[in-house]
Amino acid sequence: MGAPLSRVDGRLKVTGKALYAAEHDVDGVVHAVIVDSSIGRGRITSIDTGAAEALPGVLKVIHHRNAPKLPYRDNSASNNPPEGRRLRVFQDDRVRFHGQPVAVVVATTLEAAQHGASLVEVDYDAERPSTDLTEAEPDEPTRYARGDAEAALRSAAVRLDLTYRTARNHHNPMEPHATIARWNGDKLTVWDKTQWVVGTQTELAAVFGLDLDAVRVISPFVGGGFGTALRCWPHVVVAALAARETKRPVKLVLSRKQMYLGTGFRPSYEYRLRLGSDRRGRLAAAVHDLDAETSSYEKFTEAVLAAGQMLYSMPHVSQAYRTVPLDLPTPLWMRGPGFQTASFVIESAMDELAHELGVDPIELRRRNEPAEDESSGLPFSTRRLRECYSVGAREFGWDRRNPEPRSTREGDWLIGRGMAAGVYDTARMPARARARLDADGTALVEAAATDMGPGTYTSQTQVAADALGLTVRTVTFRLGDSLYPPTPPHGGSMTMASVGSATLDACNKVRRQAIGLAVGDRESPLYGVAADDVVVRGGRLHVKNDPARGETYRRLLTRNDRTHLEADGSFAPPSGPQRHSFYGYNATFAEVAVDATLGLVRVRRVLGVYDAGRIISPKLADSQAIGGMVGGIGTALLEHTLTDHRDGRIVNANLADYLVPVNADVPDLKAIYLDGEDREADPLGVKGLGELVMIGVAPAIANAVFNATGRRVRELPITAEALL
Ligand code: MOS
Repeated sequence: MGAPLSRVDGRLKVTGKALYAAEHDVDGVVHAVIVDSSIGRGRITSIDTGAAEALPGVLKVIHHRNAPKLPYRDNSASNNPPEGRRLRVFQDDRVRFHGQPVAVVVATTLEAAQHGASLVEVDYDAERPSTDLTEAEPDEPTRYARGDAEAALRSAAVRLDLTYRTARNHHNPMEPHATIARWNGDKLTVWDKTQWVVGTQTELAAVFGLDLDAVRVISPFVGGGFGTALRCWPHVVVAALAARETKRPVKLVLSRKQMYLGTGFRPSYEYRLRLGSDRRGRLAAAVHDLDAETSSYEKFTEAVLAAGQMLYSMPHVSQAYRTVPLDLPTPLWMRGPGFQTASFVIESAMDELAHELGVDPIELRRRNEPAEDESSGLPFSTRRLRECYSVGAREFGWDRRNPEPRSTREGDWLIGRGMAAGVYDTARMPARARARLDADGTALVEAAATDMGPGTYTSQTQVAADALGLTVRTVTFRLGDSLYPPTPPHGGSMTMASVGSATLDACNKVRRQAIGLAVGDRESPLYGVAADDVVVRGGRLHVKNDPARGETYRRLLTRNDRTHLEADGSFAPPSGPQRHSFYGYNATFAEVAVDATLGLVRVRRVLGVYDAGRIISPKLADSQAIGGMVGGIGTALLEHTLTDHRDGRIVNANLADYLVPVNADVPDLKAIYLDGEDREADPLGVKGLGELVMIGVAPAIANAVFNATGRRVRELPITAEALL
């Protein structure tokens, strides 16, 4: 652990041998293409499938008039299912959002299925959808309060009243959602793009009324997720239903456009934040009022309140979080869920306060550093935000920043520097893993985990190799199959803490078994040695202080006629009352250049300093950090899902019009990790990294834009128009 390893699956990936969901070779597979609704709300009045069915190769067209009623059992085992009633495909005539699946065409070739889908005639009784967050009626709020924030605000010496807006963002992984479904009697196997094979398994079992072990989900490689594959979406059910109805294995791949039509998104927010402080910038009160998009049929909420309760010290906080039901599909977590949005608002507002008071933004944050988590009264397991500030300020050259807005110019370019703090919850959930050491001295570790890109294969291999005393090359880690021991969702940055700790446990047990075998074996050079005095390095057990005295796993197992040793490992975060508050932190710095005439923003450099606990795999951590910063640049300056409120259609459901950063948008990015570990969080001492690295980037950029131009843009993305 701690070695900058290259990905153990890198060669498979670059040679095309890593099989993604749609690439599995399943005998006799046929193809399904979904027909999307062309209205945003209403009822289907008729469906004419005649022309499609007459096409050569078309096997079947399924829609609400001919689809069987599916059990759709309650699935509370699912990944925090939002309150409400999930979208049931082809079970009624209602259209709940533009692009909802209304039919599926199954054909022997993809071309026939696509052609068939274009020929399905659907008539509707259309109503005007409600898709505008600022116009619709919100739900009752979720509230949090401590002290009396309104009163404290009234008597505060300095008051800010700021309203921010954030755009809807879509995940846009490289690999689209894809499913291959095959039935064998009442048993269902799916190859699926998913960040949680166990979640997809439980949902399919619930939808089709099957026992859990009748469903197998396989997902060895995932081409990016950012959260979109944390839920088993309706298209997976469509694929399984189509396979059952046609008695053929069915492959269904969403088009890029369909990736915008019901596989989750980061909801848009309107977020009013009122801050009160004394003249030195000591915060007295914050009042948060926020509205967020959700669907008409499910109430999606995310962790958008936590940061406002614990990031800074203040006696008075009041929060009201309202979801607004709209004729949209249900949102889902997207990288840095909740915290990303909260951090943009809070960290922009802190910058506004610093400017108002004439206090340095870092100094303002230092003055409001809490001694404990004021939302719970618990001590922080570790909180090294001050260190993030000082290391970051030094590395970035913060002292060279002129705090006067619009004071630094290079030709046509206005130069600005900004910073922000970031925080993300250290999430952990129960996980299991199984380890086996074979007599040839190699090991196999399995868990139903996922690798959507962060490098789970590699980092878990490192943990296993370390615990077993083997070289990385002699360890194989397998994941992505519901037959393996269950693990939590591959999201919320909890994989290393949860799965890694289970892997560690399983491998520790196997190593101890081997040591026990050796010290009790008269023929072993280790016979009679205390087990605690035996270590394993490079597959060889030896006495800690006498490396010459020992033998290999291979020799030990072979002599004892053992084909293998194996053990199940597990991890569960402590239950009952918590004794600590667990978060990862960062300080993020950005430098931008803004074209004074055109309003064009170019990010010049970003620096992130992370208090993320122990770093298992520095090279992979850097990939995460760079990816997170790129995501932050996208959210800050480019990404914006646009809806035509007249019919609820997404206008830019493609990668030409939905802008994401390309190489030319990505400058020098640097990540620094504070050396250390969080012993309270989990046995590995990790705090999670993948979400944290994105949080803080957008506000750091927004604050840099203000420093460059003197213009405060309170709406993401920050566009050239807003700066003109
Ligand atoms: Mo991440 S939003 O938990 O995939």
